[in-house]
Amino acid sequence: MIKLIQTIDLCKTYVKRVQEKVYALKHLNLEIEKGEIFGFLGPNGAGKSTTIKLILDIIRPTSGKAFLFDIDISNPESRRRVGYLPENPSFYDYLTAEELLWFAGRIHKMDDDTIARKTEELLALLDLTEAKSTPIRKYSKGMVQRAGLAHSLINNPDLLILDEPTSGLDPVGRRKVADLLLDLKKQGKTIFFSSHILHDVETICDKIGIIVEGELRFCGKLSDVLHQSLQGFEVVVQNISDEILNEITDLSSSGLIGDKKLVPACFKHGIDCHREGDTARLTVAEGDLWQLIDFIKSKNLSLLAIEPRRKTLEGLFLELIGKRS
Ligand SMILES: Nc1ncnc2c1ncn2[C@@H]1O[C@H](COP(=O)(O)OP(=O)(O)OP(=O)(O)O)[C@@H](O)[C@H]1O
Ligand SMILES: [Mg+2]
Repeated sequence: MIKLIQTIDLCKTYVKRVQEKVYALKHLNLEIEKGEIFGFLGPNGAGKSTTIKLILDIIRPTSGKAFLFDIDISNPESRRRVGYLPENPSFYDYLTAEELLWFAGRIHKMDDDTIARKTEELLALLDLTEAKSTPIRKYSKGMVQRAGLAHSLINNPDLLILDEPTSGLDPVGRRKVADLLLDLKKQGKTIFFSSHILHDVETICDKIGIIVEGELRFCGKLSDVLHQSLQGFEVVVQNISDEILNEITDLSSSGLIGDKKLVPACFKHGIDCHREGDTARLTVAEGDLWQLIDFIKSKNLSLLAIEPRRKTLEGLFLELIGKRS
């Protein structure tokens, strides 16, 4: 498999002042293969933009190596088939979106016909056709972001490196960008993007990396994390009285109701009960599910739903950044 991005022990230390250093990236080892959509997550200041700027040779590493298309990033050839969207794109704002794309096309040494065709296609794709003759300084934040995306795609790149592509977009714009990225994947493109929007990452990524304080704390397939991590079940029951709820709580904590021993035996794990009107949501461990269902049957309660509870990306993220144990 071709590695489109590879970093080996990549480190970056910024020197803020004499004696004050920021260890922004610590020994990053990453491999992104052809055709993958990789989501790069991390809290503010974690080192995402630093990584992106390093692999594009915009800033230089303190130590370590990086390759794009197996070419050392010190060689400009490594960036020939790359499209890049910076974190806060800022363009010559007297240009219109159409002029911006012409400018970008010329830099890539594209011929006039190809630039004209590609410009029209990208303006339509990113909903900028109507605004194509308006100077960028009159654009909203979301429009500048979409112009930046069009700019990154002008040369039909095989590898897209996008620093927060959906930031500043409304929900419809975000959905459109997500669809666009999935479409590009279908065309065989590889995408590396950073984001704070976990929902976007969950919907479109094959693989994710979570970086905290310059260290990669997790890297892997999202499906491996989320789908194999059954954490129990949520059982929804209707017409449940406080008395029965208390009985369940007692059963799950001690196996006793009051001071009486219970038959059948108690649940092995605690059961969390949340009442919403006459409906209760009971969170139960996998091993206690059948016992709870027997209990519900014995009390003639109506069972509305049984839903598996799995680890969410948000849960994993909070766990790794140390906001949840
Ligand atoms: N030019 C610089 N000089 C000194 N420190 C810097 C510089 N650029 C970034 N840093 C520091 O490096 C760390 C990583 O910053 P970086 O911009 O890579 O984070 P990020 O993950 O992209 O954050 P965000 O989600 O806010 O965009 C931060 O502590 C930041 O203050
Ligand atoms: Mg950033």
